[in-house]
Amino acid sequence: MELPAVLRQAVDRLLEGTPLAELERAAGILSSRYRAEIRDGRLHLDDRLAVKAYLATRLPATYAAVRTSLESVAELRPDFAPRTLLDLGSGPGTVLWAASDCWATLREAVHVEASPVARDIGATLARDMAVADARWLAGDVTGNLTNLAKADLVTLSYVLDEIDPKAISLLVGRLWALTEDTLVIVEPGTPAGWSRILTARQRLIDDGARLVAPCPHASPCPIAAPDWCHFARRVARSRLHRLAKGADVPWEDEKYVFIAASRHAGEGSAARVIAPPRAAKGMITLKLCCGDGHVADRIVTKRQGDVFRTARRLEWGDATPMDLGEA
Ligand SMILES: C[S@@+](CC[C@H](N)C(=O)[O-])C[C@H]1O[C@@H](n2cnc3c(N)ncnc32)[C@H](O)[C@@H]1O
Repeated sequence: MELPAVLRQAVDRLLEGTPLAELERAAGILSSRYRAEIRDGRLHLDDRLAVKAYLATRLPATYAAVRTSLESVAELRPDFAPRTLLDLGSGPGTVLWAASDCWATLREAVHVEASPVARDIGATLARDMAVADARWLAGDVTGNLTNLAKADLVTLSYVLDEIDPKAISLLVGRLWALTEDTLVIVEPGTPAGWSRILTARQRLIDDGARLVAPCPHASPCPIAAPDWCHFARRVARSRLHRLAKGADVPWEDEKYVFIAASRHAGEGSAARVIAPPRAAKGMITLKLCCGDGHVADRIVTKRQGDVFRTARRLEWGDATPMDLGEA
């Protein structure tokens, strides 16, 4: 996946003239702060260079994770046509771009972001996009959020890892109260990210939300450590991205995990593919999280005709359109 062309060009203009050595150094600091999940009271994106490093090295990956998560919602909620977005911890506005790419119905977006530089850069980038009314508010997402209006779509992407774990459940409860229709929370696809998503998932179930994706059920998560639920999306790396990261390969696989919950029932899926499918001659093995709340390895063979043809097209992260019976 790549950034939309308009966003890519806007990012290129913003990065123009930034010395590569400075970008590389800032990208290194950013990456080590994220990797170590440092919570020292300082925002990771607290200066212009850090936000530029984010644009060059992280935005394409978080965009891909968010866009794919939203697509999973759109697939199972074809009736959902959000007009309003409330995005918390917006950074440079990643979700705005992904959501407006997913839903052309989007008209208004409110962003809550603590970093003044991230707000400024997000607003600058958003000048090039079609959403009529995009506002950027200074604010702390761990506050009571009572000044905010409800929105059709509420989002929190790659933010929980910067928050005190003890505050997650309360924050998710507040976000759910602000959700007219659907709430989507995205996190890095690490065991720690998954654990935070499990906390969010439980809070949403307790508050009566209907899970849309990726879970095909609201039973306790059947995945047990050392395994963890996550997905991956391949992301194209620009030349600058490669240089800033000192990387040779023109792509990277972004691992992510998410939870989407709604006030309305979706179409539901029979199961979700939770690992890369394994293909052998005339046979495919799919690891599925099933609607009955269990994980199962399903072997589908060529003898199963249509079921095999469907199974052959499935990828890691896909919802299965039918219950793939045993061979
Ligand atoms: C990793 S960035 C994610 C940006 C964007 N949502 C994305 O997915 O690319 C996390 C953002 O959350 C913001 N943030 C962290 N803690 C916050 C808080 N307590 N209140 C408001 N914003 C916060 C940071 O400043 C940063 O811009």
